[in-house]
Amino acid sequence: MKIMVLHGPNLNLLGTREPEVYGSTTLADIDAMLQEEGKRLGVEVRALQLNSEGALVTAIQEAAAWAGALIINPAAYTHTSVALRDAIAAVALPTIEVHLSNVFAREEFRHHSYITPVAAGLICGFGIDSYRLALIAATRMGT
Ligand code: DQA
Repeated sequence: MKIMVLHGPNLNLLGTREPEVYGSTTLADIDAMLQEEGKRLGVEVRALQLNSEGALVTAIQEAAAWAGALIINPAAYTHTSVALRDAIAAVALPTIEVHLSNVFAREEFRHHSYITPVAAGLICGFGIDSYRLALIAATRMGT
């Protein structure tokens, strides 16, 4: 089984971006962990970081052709993007929404997600382990 992992805007800056919120883990650390865990679980992981909304929509559409499940940290687009929500609903891939931080313990505008209603589930608040847990869930759910 193949799993697409999409990282949204500004996640390329992890490590230096608001370390008091996101810690010192870099995106390269997350991707390396996902590769390692993927091998352990017997799944192939392809990870991609994209800053623009349209590119994320295209990546979701393309993943439908080859992936068995999708893990996405839509970052700020979580709280704004009907386009990402529609793309996820359209492709009907089992989708797990991930956030490093506990968005419900932060500003009010982060409490609403356009993505959660079309996702199989949401994992947030565990830093890099949010992705680790999502990979386990995606491996169980994917086809
Ligand atoms: C985030 C939470 C979002 O609210 C924020 O815009 C991000 C990162 C997280 O992983 O905690 O960019 O998705």
